[in-house]
Amino acid sequence: MSEFVEIFEMGPRDGLQNERNNIPTADKISLVNCLSKAGFKRIEVGSFVSPRWVPQMADSAQVLTNIQRQPGVSYTALTPNMQGFNRAVMAQADEIAIFGSASEGFSKANINATIAESLERFGPVIDAARSVNLPVRGYISCVTDCPFDGPTSPKKVAQVAAYMKKAGCYEISLGDTIGQGTPESILAMLTAVLNEVPADELAGHYHDTAGRALINIEASLQVGLRVFDAAVGGLGGCPYAPGAAGNVATEAVNDWLIQRGYLTGLKPTILETAAGMARDMRSK
Ligand code: HMG
Ligand code: MG
Repeated sequence: MSEFVEIFEMGPRDGLQNERNNIPTADKISLVNCLSKAGFKRIEVGSFVSPRWVPQMADSAQVLTNIQRQPGVSYTALTPNMQGFNRAVMAQADEIAIFGSASEGFSKANINATIAESLERFGPVIDAARSVNLPVRGYISCVTDCPFDGPTSPKKVAQVAAYMKKAGCYEISLGDTIGQGTPESILAMLTAVLNEVPADELAGHYHDTAGRALINIEASLQVGLRVFDAAVGGLGGCPYAPGAAGNVATEAVNDWLIQRGYLTGLKPTILETAAGMARDMRSK
């Protein structure tokens, strides 16, 4: 029997957050509404971060409260601190995510905290989410390479992953933020992380900067990962990671998985429509 692999759609958040032009809220809502019909279980709709740091995500509450929610789809958002958490709850996010880093340089640049400070800050957010039954995902950035500190030690990634699991994250997404990972460095990192967190609680989040995201997904499938993050149209990057180009494109990952006999439950024609919408937003 064919095995199921889930693609977690990142386009409206990781895809759009890096766009410099001010994308109308209505266009973001239309994109999410289109994606909602494609068969995803989870769509990351926005982030409740400081609007000074990421102006493009300032309207995430409007987006979340105005989309047409489909039953069975979880609409998720990033929350770096309690302020973000409270805003996400008000906007009725179905799930939240905390986001940290395995490298000090990126942690400071992205959330203005050391790794230790950030983990401390996540504690109350995770506890508050659990008290209202909101699932919490954890992201770890720079799992193989950091734009500031160079190569990342697999041991450090495993330490942060172990902390997030113990703190209550139900899944940990491993970010190759600047897309410099290779199957070898991804496997070295996963070997260390798998000592702390089982494969069914991990996801691969691989940016496609160097065109290696698909072979990194292939390597990750070999060691049991079955969830991968991607963004329609290959949009995106991170505003605080110089050189971070697009996320791996959802439609490319979907085609690649289907060709290899996996099931994804996604509708390719709707993915193409959404990818077109995403590309139009970028060029506006
Ligand atoms: P800070 O400046 O240290 O925070 O930033 P602060 O607590 O000192 O607050 C400064 C100001 O921000 C205050 O406003 C706060 O009220 C406000 P002021 O009094 O000066 O007017 N503020 C907020 N406003 C709204 N919502 C909030 C919030 N928090 C503070 N939640 C902070 C610290 C974490 C807030 C900031 O660094 C930040 O927002 N960073 C987010 C950066 C970001 O979103 N990066 C992209 C997402 S991560 C990513 O893309 C990687 C990923 O895809 C995985 C991968 O690829 O690796 C997930
Ligand atoms: Mg990312």
